Amino acid sequence: MDKETLLREIIDRIATCTRCGLCEHRTQTVPGEGNLNARLFFVGEAPGREEDLSGRPFVGAAGTLFTEILKSVKIDRKDVYIGNIIKCRPPDNRTPTMAEMDACAPFLLAQLQVVHPKLIVTLGASSLSYFLPEREIKITEMRGKRLQWEGGITIFPMFHPSYLLRNASKAPGSPKALTWDDIREVRRIYDQSE
Ligand code: URA
Ligand code: URA
Repeated sequence: MDKETLLREIIDRIATCTRCGLCEHRTQTVPGEGNLNARLFFVGEAPGREEDLSGRPFVGAAGTLFTEILKSVKIDRKDVYIGNIIKCRPPDNRTPTMAEMDACAPFLLAQLQVVHPKLIVTLGASSLSYFLPEREIKITEMRGKRLQWEGGITIFPMFHPSYLLRNASKAPGSPKALTWDDIREVRRIYDQSE
């Protein structure tokens, strides 16, 4: 089967999923979107209010900042794939539980298998903790490092854009300044992966 059909099937399964309690609160699922052949795959945590209403990832305030970060290195959203560990909005945007992540992550793994990127950029601590469950995650120490994952895929952790909205300083060494360094490094890895 071609990638489009495979991804469509995954998205259809997500749409009717009742594996965890989050399904009771959703307006709709937010499966993720982007280029089926993307070499670069961004993984956030979970949809917020705007995403739940629109069915698309990263379209609220954090999403606007995320899109700006991409634009700063001329990465277009339509050239990459953008998804989340969790496909339904947690009530009041609370952090998803491990049980919810375990229930939902098989969908992300299936999406990763189909798209098969060279580079996964995790956004925030929850997303990274899913990929590195055995390690104590300190996002401030892990961000900006290239890590090897399964199948020769590189993982590159970055801060979550919501965290940057709460920490607006652009002073040297601030989360925002570091993020603008990190996205330039993502651009370099991306260019090398051609
Ligand atoms: N935050 C996320 O982690 N994902 C989204 O899709 C939107 C906000
Ligand atoms: N804590 C998080 O969960 N994510 C960040 O990006 C920073 C701190």
